[in-house]
Amino acid sequence: MLPETIRITNSPAADLQQFLAQKKYSSIHLLTDENTRKHCYPLLEAQLPPHHVIVIKSGEQHKTIETCTTVWEALTNSQADRHAVLIVLGGGVLGDLGGFCAATYKRGIDFILLPTTLLAQVDASIGGKLGIDFNHFKNHIGLFKQPTLNLLFSGFLNTLPEVEMRSGFAEVIKHTVISDRKMWEIIRRKSLTEQDWPTIIRHSAAFKYSVIKEDPYEKNLRKILNAGHTIGHAIESHLLSVNRSITHGEAVAAGLICEFKIAVEKKCLSEEEFEEVKTYILKLFGKISLEESDIKEITSLCIQDKKNKGNRILCVLPNGIGKAQWDVEITLDQIESSLSFYRLLQT
Ligand SMILES: NC(=O)c1ccc[n+]([C@@H]2O[C@H](COP(=O)([O-])OP(=O)(O)OC[C@H]3O[C@@H](n4cnc5c(N)ncnc54)[C@H](O)[C@@H]3O)[C@@H](O)[C@H]2O)c1
Ligand SMILES: [Zn+2]
Repeated sequence: MLPETIRITNSPAADLQQFLAQKKYSSIHLLTDENTRKHCYPLLEAQLPPHHVIVIKSGEQHKTIETCTTVWEALTNSQADRHAVLIVLGGGVLGDLGGFCAATYKRGIDFILLPTTLLAQVDASIGGKLGIDFNHFKNHIGLFKQPTLNLLFSGFLNTLPEVEMRSGFAEVIKHTVISDRKMWEIIRRKSLTEQDWPTIIRHSAAFKYSVIKEDPYEKNLRKILNAGHTIGHAIESHLLSVNRSITHGEAVAAGLICEFKIAVEKKCLSEEEFEEVKTYILKLFGKISLEESDIKEITSLCIQDKKNKGNRILCVLPNGIGKAQWDVEITLDQIESSLSFYRLLQT
């Protein structure tokens, strides 16, 4: 179940109009990047009360303090006071950065999220984590604060490039295989283009919300959301460090295969269940090509994972499809052999 502040909608403009009419903000500011300005803003523009539009450059490389400065400047120049609101129309980068700017401007003004990527709708917009990158450290500066309203409209996805859809879909697969066997059965029979997005968004957002409601600050249960990410993050960091482009979702998808292989060895997952997940992911994402030397590097990066305690590498592993456990210790040997297994897979 979703709370009142997170709504699935078919009419984001009308919902927004109604919400703003009730709230009587002193001024309304809307943050976009050049892509959401072009593709998403036209769906809202006519129905919004007078507002100021702020456009920033798209991309993770702009999730910086310099971009925050331009947002704070724009708010200041248009005389936004403590009763102003910032509407954030964009993917996870804008949501994290825009929310951070709003949460710090004059010690915090309201912000409304209108996530426009699949990843932002099923993951980034839920849970209140806000922030920016700093000196190449990802999400290094930030805070927790919930948006006043979060409107999830699958229609925004009509213009999203396929590579971004696929990247977000890795988080959907993750949410499903760790929480709901029945939903897995539904999605695994369909290709990316055949999926029922409103249903998937509701399901994934509700699952993430149920987790963060119980454990907002990642003391226990929230760790479960890191499935596929222990090895996935290491693959992503390594490949980016050698200038090979890869999306976060592709890395998480490969991470899920490797971690689920370890689960089979630890007798937490049957061979049949593993085969289902592996086959589906490979069909959708293809395979990342890795050399033996990459495997050594990726394995050693897993030691630096932020979820570890001391020298122990802690991971989320499935307990059959539909359930998972966290803080499971895995060894460097297990990581290395799961990566070697992945490397030699035939697609
Ligand atoms: N706060 C959290 O809990 C959380 C969780 C996961 C990820 N994140 C963050 O999310 C970010 C990644 O988000 P993302 O994958 O949404 O990337 P993104 O925000 O960079 O968006 C991807 C690209 O799609 C474009 N775009 C967005 N919506 C569009 C649309 N409807 N039509 C056409 N183009 C569109 C954007 O301009 C951008 O070029 C990362 O910075 C990550 O750290 C945060
Ligand atoms: Zn992720």
